[in-house]
Amino acid sequence: MKIINTVKELQLELKKQGKKSIGFVPTMGALHKGHIALMKQSIKENDLTVASIFVNPTQFNAKSDLDKYPRTLKADSEKLTKAKVDYLFAPSVKEVYPKGMKSKLKVNLKGLDKQLEGAFRPGHFEGVVQVVHRLLDIVKPTRLYMGQKDFQQFTIIGQMIKNLRMKVELVVVPIQRDKDGLALSSRNVRLTKAKRKWAPIIYQNLKKAKRQVGKKPIEELCAEVMVALGKPRGYKPEYFSIIDGHTLKEVKEWDDSDYLIGVTAVWAGEVRLIDNMILKKK
Ligand code: PAJ
Repeated sequence: MKIINTVKELQLELKKQGKKSIGFVPTMGALHKGHIALMKQSIKENDLTVASIFVNPTQFNAKSDLDKYPRTLKADSEKLTKAKVDYLFAPSVKEVYPKGMKSKLKVNLKGLDKQLEGAFRPGHFEGVVQVVHRLLDIVKPTRLYMGQKDFQQFTIIGQMIKNLRMKVELVVVPIQRDKDGLALSSRNVRLTKAKRKWAPIIYQNLKKAKRQVGKKPIEELCAEVMVALGKPRGYKPEYFSIIDGHTLKEVKEWDDSDYLIGVTAVWAGEVRLIDNMILKKK
């Protein structure tokens, strides 16, 4: 695997490769098996796979959060080599934002960025759109790989691709979980032993919601799950909602949509966990 730090070098390298399909997997590093699943799928479906590691300052709400983000480039590049990724693009902030970090990009996201995670992290998705747009412009891939773990994120990027008529296919990879059901995340290592023990409760409640589709009234079900998610010591659910997978708006009746997603964010002590599950899809 080649590690490349500049835009110029990456573009030269890809040009040398000629006409080949390129799969692109953007990440912020601290790689785990969830990320590697995206790499593997890209390798399977494309001639070349480019992964990027860039901790994007414009999507963080707090400077302290940005500073605390784990940076483990050496271990990450070993994992990517093992997975047989062709190129690792690891640029500096200057390479990504040569004209500064203020974005001029305006994309009509149809309110997709306002609810759920967007409501708790103002400006976050603007930063995500800005960086993914820039990275796509640099790499010009055939396919872009993103995880279902961040449901709102891939939905918003899908909307951006559609709005701007970008020539890239978005491929969404299912959520990768630990054996007990906890969705893999770079944040999981920060869970204390006691908090980690209870973490499968999130997956269990998403599965419970799936079993209840069309049965219990949505409001009642969501209230029940909120109570259950707040039971373990130090657990505080921020939201548990059932939304339409296209608009990301809350659904009040089971029949209001044929694409239903259960979404949740839960504080387990100091660690904020997010998860989701497709409950119904036609
Ligand atoms: P990061 O959190 O590093 O995630 C990179 C990609 O891995 C995202 O598409 C995310 O959805 C996916 N991913 C993470 N955990 C996963 C899991 N358990 N199962 C499946 N996929 C998983 O998301 C970002 O970085 C950034 O916002 C980025 C898109 C790179 C823009 O800066």
